[in-house]
Amino acid sequence: MDVHRMKIVYILVVIVAYFANRWYRTPNIPEHLLNHPATFVPNLIEEDAAKELLELVKGMHEFPTNLNDLNFYDTVYEHIGEAQKIESDGKCADPFLVPNKDGSLCILPGRIDVAKHFMKYGGVEGKKEKFEVAASRLLSFGRYIFDLTSYPIVEKLFASEKFLHGAKSTCPPHKQILDPFQFNFIIQVPGQSVALHLDAVYFLHATRFEYPMWLLSVMAHSGLYKEEFIDQVQVVGYVHKWEDSRRGGKFVYYLNNSINAYQEEPLPRAGSFVDGSKIIHAATIYYPDLKPPIMDKSAENKLVYQGQDKWTVTSNGKTLKTFKTDDLRITIVYRARCFESEEKKAQFSRIRETKEDIRPVDEILEDLKKDLHETRGYSMEKLNAFSRYDLGMILLDEYIKYPLPPHGLIPVNYCLADRFYPWLKPILDRIC
Ligand SMILES: *[C@@H]1O[C@H](CO)[C@@H](O)[C@H](O)[C@H]1NC(C)=O
Repeated sequence: MDVHRMKIVYILVVIVAYFANRWYRTPNIPEHLLNHPATFVPNLIEEDAAKELLELVKGMHEFPTNLNDLNFYDTVYEHIGEAQKIESDGKCADPFLVPNKDGSLCILPGRIDVAKHFMKYGGVEGKKEKFEVAASRLLSFGRYIFDLTSYPIVEKLFASEKFLHGAKSTCPPHKQILDPFQFNFIIQVPGQSVALHLDAVYFLHATRFEYPMWLLSVMAHSGLYKEEFIDQVQVVGYVHKWEDSRRGGKFVYYLNNSINAYQEEPLPRAGSFVDGSKIIHAATIYYPDLKPPIMDKSAENKLVYQGQDKWTVTSNGKTLKTFKTDDLRITIVYRARCFESEEKKAQFSRIRETKEDIRPVDEILEDLKKDLHETRGYSMEKLNAFSRYDLGMILLDEYIKYPLPPHGLIPVNYCLADRFYPWLKPILDRIC
């Protein structure tokens, strides 16, 4: 081939590669999770309230990682049958499993859907890094509170004019009865992130109090249970005092299938109104160039307030790192469900108490298998032969389509391949 022709071929290859890459990365979020309202409100939280919230955070003293949110409630089905016996050292050898609430079994963590995607693709930033680093980025800290009456400051937030106004435009027009039900604080230390996710989804007959959260996420993505879906409004508000765009930690969310997400700065006292159970969202890495404290997923990891503006990250009681309050990215998330009527609201809470009509988890799995068969061509025979662990992995892979990182040449985080193919370790140790 002459030089001229080679040039043309080369240019064509580059053009095709460019478009193939863009096409591959274009998000594929299902229609029913698109085009929902999202509103950013600067100065949403009054100064006095922000101060009081920060004091409340300090007063709560101890924050486990968000991996352990089952510590704050019970669920009817802790797993779908994938549980394995825990090792004698209290650890879970399988990279995807973690100890369950009472430490007797290894199960898929509630947000395996979120963790798996982040680990595999490196998050919005497309990070290429080892398992321990990627996993520790996800272990941000938090507390979930379902009993609002003990927190007058939070009740005041829910009652404020600004919240009611924001909720009005976030809840569907025919579902304007609010049911405040939860708030939580989420804290990231430098190097940590909140990976792309849908929040815990509530269906009339299926919530985090009955099923693992990853299964609810699969159910929501599948679109099979739309009539049962309970809309919500939540505020993601910032309680920290610093304002510095170089720190990252932006709130990103997808309202459409465009390759770049919407982004908001985590400005002090600002807040975003969204229904996070139908808008895929994340916080980018806070201090993206720093490594987080490395924590073992099977250990007891905590962020503890020591007084005098000093915080420590501990793992099984050992101090890993110390921070000042101003080093932390601190968010409050408070949320309410949106109902058509007082009756619907009462029906929802009655079902939580009586567990009436809660379907066995096996029936949900049967629905999903049938859908996999009908829409994705799996044979029923094959589906029935899978272990529960493998079935879980297939459900995650088939239904959960969080967007891929928009930039970079290679979209997958190849650096953690040595967890699955140990022979790659010497090569990866060099390049990662
Ligand atoms: C889709 O989202 C992007 C931001 O991520 C925005 O710039 C664009 O205008 C949106 N497109 C449509 C058609 O709404």
